[in-house]
Amino acid sequence: MTTLETPRLLSRPWTEADIEPFFALCSDPEVMHYFGGPHSREKVEATVRGAMEAQAQFGVWLQPLILKETGEFIGMAGIADVRFEEHFTPAVEIGWRLARRHWGQGYITEIGKAFIDHAFTVRKFGELVSFAVQDNERSIAVMKRLGFTHDPADDFDHKRVPDELPHLKRHVLYRLKNPAAA
Ligand SMILES: CC(C)(COP(=O)(O)OP(=O)(O)OC[C@H]1O[C@@H](n2cnc3c(N)ncnc32)[C@H](O)[C@@H]1OP(=O)(O)O)[C@@H](O)C(=O)NCCC(=O)NCCS
Repeated sequence: MTTLETPRLLSRPWTEADIEPFFALCSDPEVMHYFGGPHSREKVEATVRGAMEAQAQFGVWLQPLILKETGEFIGMAGIADVRFEEHFTPAVEIGWRLARRHWGQGYITEIGKAFIDHAFTVRKFGELVSFAVQDNERSIAVMKRLGFTHDPADDFDHKRVPDELPHLKRHVLYRLKNPAAA
């Protein structure tokens, strides 16, 4: 299991105590806009339990983000093996979700760099991908800040987005190669 530390942040494995603040975050319509709106308590609990299992198998996952200064749970970020089939899988993705009041302070860029370093130097993955709904500009801005690049030929319609949400189907895919990979 993996814990990463940066000057301002800690990312560590999930605990039961994270369910409550994660539910609060997943109740914010602005944060959850690109996930089809707020998630129920049951769905959030299932997400956390799934993440606990996945992190035990994979060693790291999309995991809690803690502000060191206060100990506050402020979101989640991490790397995960993509668990659906697409033209770019198998692949390892990097992803993030941050409480609204903490946007605009560079926290995701800061922890993103730490996860990229972990992915490339410790886990030695050859490439990371990141994907988002095509108009999720804040998420795409993080990808660009972290050095990910985009080829429109990679874009795809996400199979797991329900047909009732057609405006959330089209996704852009960004990639970052491990500079140490051949
Ligand atoms: C996507 C999301 C995580 C991005 O959060 P964010 O705060 O914009 O991203 P960062 O933490 O990298 O912060 C970047 C901002 O902080 C500013 N900043 C301040 N200090 C900074 C620093 N030291 N380093 C980098 N940026 C810094 C940047 O200028 C930028 O500001 P801007 O918003 O005016 O452009 C957030 O919008 C979110 O949670 N969205 C909802 C969930 C979601 O859609 N997740 C992605 C699904 S694919």
